[in-house]
Amino acid sequence: MNISEIGNKIFYAGVNNRTAELFEELWPIPQGVCYNSYVVVGDKVALIDTVPACYCIKFLHKIAAIIGDRPIDYLVINHMEPDHSGAIQIIRQQYPGIKIVGNNKTAEMIAGYYGITDNVLTIKEGDTIDLGAGKSLRFIITPMVHWPETMMTYVESDRFLFTGDAFGCFGALNGGVVDEEMNTDMYIPEMYRYYSNIVAKYGAMVQNALKKTAPLAIDYICPTHGPVWHERAAEVVEIYDRMSRFEAEPGVVIAYGSMYGNTEERVEAVAAELIKAGVKNVKIYNLSHTSYSYVLADVMRYKGLIVAGPTYSNELFPPVAALMKALRLRDIRNRAFAYFGSFTWAPAVTKRIEAEVEHLKVDVVAAPFNMKQAGDDLIEESCRILAHSMAAAVL
Ligand SMILES: Cc1cc2nc3c(=O)[nH]c(=O)nc-3n(C[C@H](O)[C@H](O)[C@H](O)COP(=O)(O)O)c2cc1C
Ligand SMILES: [Fe+2]
Ligand SMILES: [Fe+2]
Repeated sequence: MNISEIGNKIFYAGVNNRTAELFEELWPIPQGVCYNSYVVVGDKVALIDTVPACYCIKFLHKIAAIIGDRPIDYLVINHMEPDHSGAIQIIRQQYPGIKIVGNNKTAEMIAGYYGITDNVLTIKEGDTIDLGAGKSLRFIITPMVHWPETMMTYVESDRFLFTGDAFGCFGALNGGVVDEEMNTDMYIPEMYRYYSNIVAKYGAMVQNALKKTAPLAIDYICPTHGPVWHERAAEVVEIYDRMSRFEAEPGVVIAYGSMYGNTEERVEAVAAELIKAGVKNVKIYNLSHTSYSYVLADVMRYKGLIVAGPTYSNELFPPVAALMKALRLRDIRNRAFAYFGSFTWAPAVTKRIEAEVEHLKVDVVAAPFNMKQAGDDLIEESCRILAHSMAAAVL
C-alpha cells in the first residue's frame, strides 16, 4: 500500500469519497471530498482524528501499513462530527489499550454518540502529551470552528498544526497530499464554498482561533478535509482571516429565480449595466439550477449581492426564499445588497425580502422595486439605477 509520509514520522491515513452526491446530505461535491486522519510516531504513537464509519476497513489497512503491528497509544479527537469520529469504536476494538484524547466537551459527546466513558483522557488548553523521540502534542481549544468541542493539535518539533475543519475544503485528493506536490488551484474555490456553507456563522470564533494560532511557528497545516497546506499555508490563513471578517473583493453576485423568464430578462439587463459600469466580476446564478452552496461561496468572496425573483403564492419563489434563509443562518454582514421582484396581480417579493434583510447586516444600496408582468420603461430605468448604485458601492 502507498504510504504518504508528509513530515518526519508524520503520516497521512485519510480516505477519499468520490461516490457521495452531497456532503452533509446538503452540499454538492462533484469533485468528491476526503476525510483526513494523521499518524504521529514518536516512542508512542498518536492517531489524530478518524474517518466515517463506512471506511473502517480501508482505514485499518492504512494504519497497519504505516505502523505495522505496533499499538496506537493515543487517539486525538479534534472534532467529534461523525465524518471524523465514525471509526472510534473500531479503533478501540483493534487497539484496546488506546486512550482517547479530547476536552471536556469532547468527552461528553464520545459518551453520547458511542457510549464510551473509559480510557478517555480529558485535556485543557495548553496541555501537552509527550510521545517521546522529541515529539509532543499540544492542544489548542478552538470552540465553534465548527462545533463546540473543536480543538487543534500542535506538534511543535515539526511545526505541524492539525486544525480539524479549519482550512479544510471540498474535493477528494488526486494522488497527492501536501500542496507542493500538486496543482491545488481547484481547492481554493472549494475552500470558499466549504467555509461559507459550513463554518461561516462562526466568523468571530474563527477570529478567536486565529489569534491563538498566530504566535505559533507553523510549516504545515493539516485540516480534516482537502490538501495539507505547506507552500500555500500563509495564503490559506489569510483567506480564512478575510472570510471570517467578511472582507470582500469588488464584484457582484446576482442570484435569481424565474419561472417564465421575465425576472431573468431583467437580471441579464442589470448584469450588462454592471459590466458597463466597470464591475469585472459579475456572477449570475439561477437558483433553480445551481445549489445555493455555490452562491454562498461567492457571497463570501464578493462585496455585492443582488437577489431577484417572482412572487409565488404571495411569498418569495421557494428557491429564493431558501437562499434568504441561508444568508440569515450565516449572519451575512458587510455586503452591498439590492433586490427586486416580479408579480402579476399582487406583489410580495420586496416586502418579504425587506423582512429578511432586517436580520442581515448588509447595506441596501438601491431602491427595491416590483415589476408587474413583463415590465415597462420605468422598470428598465429602475434596473439601470440599481446596477449603477451597486457598482458604485462595490468598486
Ligand atoms: C404557482 C404560482 C404562484 C404565483 N403566485 C403569485 C402571487 O401570489 N401574486 C402575484 O402577483 N403573482 C403570482 N404569480 C405570478 C408570477 O409572480 C408572475 O407570473 C411573474 O411575472 C413570474 O416571473 P418570471 O417570468 O420571472 O417567472 C404566481 C405564479 C405561479 C406560477
Ligand atoms: Fe465539522
Ligand atoms: Fe468535517
